[in-house]
Amino acid sequence: MGKLEGKVAFITGAARGQGRSHAVRLAQEGADVIAVDICSQIDSVPYPMATSADLEETVAAVEGLDRRIVAVEADVRDIAALKTAVERGVAELGPVDIILANAGIAPQGTTIDDDQAFRDVVEVNLFGVHNTVKAGVPSMIENGRGGAIVLTSSTQGLSGAGGDGTGATSGYAASKHGVVGLMHTYANWLAQYSIRVNTVHPTGVNTPMVVNDAMQAFLAANPGMGAAMQNLLPVPMIEALDISNAIAWLVSDEARYVTGVTLPVDAGFLAR
Ligand SMILES: NC(=O)c1ccc[n+]([C@@H]2O[C@H](COP(=O)([O-])OP(=O)(O)OC[C@H]3O[C@@H](n4cnc5c(N)ncnc54)[C@H](O)[C@@H]3O)[C@@H](O)[C@H]2O)c1
Repeated sequence: MGKLEGKVAFITGAARGQGRSHAVRLAQEGADVIAVDICSQIDSVPYPMATSADLEETVAAVEGLDRRIVAVEADVRDIAALKTAVERGVAELGPVDIILANAGIAPQGTTIDDDQAFRDVVEVNLFGVHNTVKAGVPSMIENGRGGAIVLTSSTQGLSGAGGDGTGATSGYAASKHGVVGLMHTYANWLAQYSIRVNTVHPTGVNTPMVVNDAMQAFLAANPGMGAAMQNLLPVPMIEALDISNAIAWLVSDEARYVTGVTLPVDAGFLAR
């Protein structure tokens, strides 16, 4: 029996990358999934974002594990759409036990207006996280059996390494630092309901967010950035599953008294 048997996990950015990996990893532990993704492009993002076909692939992967999944195309900037997604999920699967606020963008290297890139990244990576919790947490509270929330930050949520003054880079770091603030205030608010709230801080992860032509061009044009992004352990990038494994523990009863924690999964990046 898996350690998340009978639980329902609400996951944003679930069409691909880390979000899909989390959906599959939690399903392996017995969870059913409410999966949300925008499945369309944001103009300031210089790499292709997920598609409907990507989200369908997540659905097939979770169903392949004999778990149930309700997948909805919705933008985390749209609280009404997120509430509708949660309502649909809860009607089919039952109340929410786990929230993974994972959706995010990294517009580094964008060629559109720098201020717009700043606004977009903060809207998605910070406002979107707040919306995700606001949409998912009432079901958890009403259900009265506690829960676990993990907000995906970044090493850039605890460090400014590689700062270059652009709206994209500054906005990314500001949004990911902001997520830590949200985590701290939610952990205080939700402890009375036995709901735990933590952040994870990945170093570079092998997903389409960083493995794409635009990011390669950005790094080539900014040689100092590559050096600033190096890990302590001899690994250039880690895998989505490395983050999923940490999250699978964090949301399980094995971590039942862990709340308010910033957990780096970063090959030592922050220890330098
Ligand atoms: N890949 C890395 O190196 C890295 C490092 C540290 C932190 N992170 C963070 O990890 C999280 C997951 O990123 P990933 O690496 O899997 O990248 P990814 O681009 O593969 O996945 C992100 C997903 O979020 C979705 N998304 C983006 N904006 C959305 C919106 N407004 N509404 C709904 N869905 C939206 C995308 O369509 C995509 O499917 C992000 O928060 C990212 O900032 C990534």
